[in-house]
Amino acid sequence: MAEKKREIALGVNIDHVATLRNARGENDPSVLELAKVAEAAGADLITVHLREDRRHIQDGDIEELKKHLHIPLNFEMALSHEILAVAKKIEPTTACIVPERREEVTTEGGLDVVQQKERVKEFVKELLAVGTESFLFIEPDLKAVHAAKETGAKGIEFHTGAYARAFRNNLKRAESLSRLIEASREAHSLGLEVHAGHGLNYHNLAPICAIDEVVELNIGHAIIARSLATGLSAAIRAMKETMRQAL
Ligand code: PXP
Repeated sequence: MAEKKREIALGVNIDHVATLRNARGENDPSVLELAKVAEAAGADLITVHLREDRRHIQDGDIEELKKHLHIPLNFEMALSHEILAVAKKIEPTTACIVPERREEVTTEGGLDVVQQKERVKEFVKELLAVGTESFLFIEPDLKAVHAAKETGAKGIEFHTGAYARAFRNNLKRAESLSRLIEASREAHSLGLEVHAGHGLNYHNLAPICAIDEVVELNIGHAIIARSLATGLSAAIRAMKETMRQAL
C-alpha cells in the first residue's frame, strides 16, 4: 500500500495586502476579503504581524479577521506589553513571538530567547491565560531551542531567512539546511512543534518540506508577489472590458 504523504500546514501571511491598502488610505485591497480568498484557496491559517509602528496590519484588521475567519489566526507580535494587550483582547489561536526593530524592512533575525527567557516566559503565560498557544521565532540554534523549551511555548518557528539568502550558493545552502535539520530534530525531541518561515518561495521550499519534523510553513512575500504576476493580466482584461462596456 502506498504510504500516505504527511501534510504541512500553510500559514498565509497577508501583511503585504495591508501595505498596499495603506498606500491609498482606503480599503482597497481589503485585508479581510483577501484573507477570505486565501481561506477559500486552501490556506490552513492566516498569519499577520501587528507591528508596533503599525506599518501594515492595523488593530481593526485583527478584529475583523478574528470575527470572520473560519481558519486559525496566527498573530505575530513583539515582546511588547502594548501588543500583548491587543492579543489578550483578540485571543488569536496562536501567537508567534518575534523580535522587532523599528528600522528593519522585515523581521531580520530570530528572537534572542536565551537573553530574554524570563520575559518570554511571562508573555507565554499571559497568552496561555486567554487560550493562545505561543511559538517563538528563533534561529535554528540549539541553545535557542533549549531556551525555548524552558519558556513553556508550544513550539518554535525557525527563521529560514539565512537559508533563503544562501539558496543559490551550494555550500552555504547545505550548511544552513543542515542547521535547520539538526535544530528541527532537537526541538521535536524536546516535544516542541516545529514551524518554519521567512524568505520561502516556490523555488526554495522543497528541502524545507522534506524535513520530517516541520509541520507548518508561514509564507507571505512570495505568495503576494506571485498573485500580482498571475493576476495582473486578468485585472487588465477586466478593465478593458469595463471600458468597452462604458462606451
Ligand atoms: N514568519 C514570520 C515569523 C515572519 O515575521 C514573516 C515575515 O513577516 C514570515 C514568516 C513570512 O516571511 P515572508 O514574507 O518572507 O514569506
